[in-house]
Amino acid sequence: MNWSNNITQLLGIEYPIIQAPMFGVTTPEMVAAAAKANTLGSLSLADLPTDKCIDLIRKTKQLTDKPFAVNIFLHTIPELSDSLRKHYNETKSFLENLAKEYGLQVALPEIDHIHLADYHDQVDAIIAENCKTVSFTFGNLDAESIQKLKSHNVILIGTCTSVEEAKTLEESGIDLICVQGIEAGGHRGSFTDQVIPQIGGFSLLPQVFEQVKTPLIYAGGIYNARTLLAAKTLGAQGFQIGSLLLNSSESALLDFEKEELRNLREKDIILTKSFSGRFARGIQNTFIRKVEHSGYILPYPYQNKLTGELRKAARTQSNSNFVNIWTGQSITPLSEASTSEILQKLIKETEQFNHEI
Ligand SMILES: Cc1cc2nc3c(=O)[nH]c(=O)nc-3n(C[C@H](O)[C@H](O)[C@H](O)COP(=O)(O)O)c2cc1C
Repeated sequence: MNWSNNITQLLGIEYPIIQAPMFGVTTPEMVAAAAKANTLGSLSLADLPTDKCIDLIRKTKQLTDKPFAVNIFLHTIPELSDSLRKHYNETKSFLENLAKEYGLQVALPEIDHIHLADYHDQVDAIIAENCKTVSFTFGNLDAESIQKLKSHNVILIGTCTSVEEAKTLEESGIDLICVQGIEAGGHRGSFTDQVIPQIGGFSLLPQVFEQVKTPLIYAGGIYNARTLLAAKTLGAQGFQIGSLLLNSSESALLDFEKEELRNLREKDIILTKSFSGRFARGIQNTFIRKVEHSGYILPYPYQNKLTGELRKAARTQSNSNFVNIWTGQSITPLSEASTSEILQKLIKETEQFNHEI
């Protein structure tokens, strides 16, 4: 099977497979392991402050000299109006009481104490650290950042969840588009509308393929040769793998979180806004059941920052009912092997399967 295409050439990799950025799961070790398999690792920088981003980039560079991407969150921060302050304080009390009811004592941060990052600082840090590829989600880069990154030959990968978003990314000159099907684990990358598109990859990918010329990466539900080749048939040249790596030896998840993933059933996986204020796919638990329809959900990133301390406390107590465990719709036994081995196995299986059909 010939894997070489626009994406391998542009990214300088052998296989057009991308280890999905997964904030909270991805480690520099995972990125280096993906690179070892001659695929593209993606380092999640989310909305971390620049000093943390720089530490992680440098750590990754110590582990691999192969290409890798860094991934950032692009979000607009809602103006802090009086009514948002009031809603924040009410949500804070509600969540503290809820936690207490379930035996978790936490003091959540006051609104004036939370740190809200601006992605422009990350862009400058990424350029200064000489990163070669940037992927992003939750929005599109502004024209000035695109120009700045391109003038330093940085390759740009944007995320879309609709044809309209794909066109927006293409029109602004983004090099590669990651099409995220509704199957995908983690946050939806949607950015054009308040009501997020909920289109399955099987419908979305070929429609985007027909309407844009930019090479496409597909993310959402790929877990074996069949699903990878299906994405190829529907128009993808690159294949982004997330949930399949959740239990890998380089994953930052804790044992109790991995245990939840091992016991997963279809009915447990849902889209929820309750943890962050943006829709994300993960495992249903008490927190989601109590918060989802409570009215106590702030716009992103406020909800995300507010629940952060709660999730941290729950993690230290191995309390799976108050942590977010993101995962996609493809349930499959998750390997504990290294990310390199999991990706190499996927490549081998795909080659064999492709030979048979
Ligand atoms: C635990 C987890 C965390 C994620 N975090 C990010 C992230 O930080 N940035 C991003 O662009 N996508 C993130 N995603 C989405 C993935 O990049 C990708 O779209 C998704 O995992 C693909 O679907 P799959 O999980 O079915 O393979 C995350 C997904 C998961 C499962």
